[in-house]
Amino acid sequence: MEALENLINRTSSRFLSEPVPDQNELEKIYQIALRAPDHAGLKPTRFIQISGEGLDRLSSVFEEYAKKNIKDISDEKLEKYKSAPFRAPMIIVLVSQIKEHKSVPEIEQIISTGTSAHGILLALNAMNYSGIWRTGIFAFNQKVAELMGLKENEKIIGYLYVGTPTNSPKELDPVDTADYVTNWA
Ligand SMILES: Cc1cc2nc3c(=O)[nH]c(=O)nc-3n(C[C@H](O)[C@H](O)[C@H](O)COP(=O)(O)O)c2cc1C
Repeated sequence: MEALENLINRTSSRFLSEPVPDQNELEKIYQIALRAPDHAGLKPTRFIQISGEGLDRLSSVFEEYAKKNIKDISDEKLEKYKSAPFRAPMIIVLVSQIKEHKSVPEIEQIISTGTSAHGILLALNAMNYSGIWRTGIFAFNQKVAELMGLKENEKIIGYLYVGTPTNSPKELDPVDTADYVTNWA
């Protein structure tokens, strides 16, 4: 796919199935992600790649969190949370490992991880896979992070659901850049 076309036309998909990227493709995807802008080279971004039985493990984490922390949760809601990880054959959890630095605040490190996420979505699109970035109650949640075995300084920024789209790409609305750009010339 032509590079600029890919940048302009990337879309997310919530209908994702096998196949997922193979080892070589994943290596390339992470190389791209880890070229994200990174103030002071702190390398704050980590990924947890989850597939197969790992999805059951993530489902158990979501279940445990919900049972312990959501008072009077309905069976329906609990089932929804338990089944959430199975909406795609692979999930890449976006983690910011926040480092203490005199001039790089936490927000800049989280933004860096966010730009990594965009890199992954763009790479997936270029390879004819797709993904969707999801957050919800299980992101920015230190109790969930703890259940996943993360350290105190590691924050879950979101979950990239990854796979092959089973829907056709959505029609994109034209964008009038003049609505968004102010020009000081
Ligand atoms: C930080 C962040 C969190 C998001 N969380 C969710 C979410 O929890 N659920 C959801 O359906 N979409 C979520 N989205 C939006 C989708 O990832 C996606 O961008 C949106 O559906 C638009 O699709 P597009 O990327 O094809 O334009 C989130 C996006 C961002 C940037």
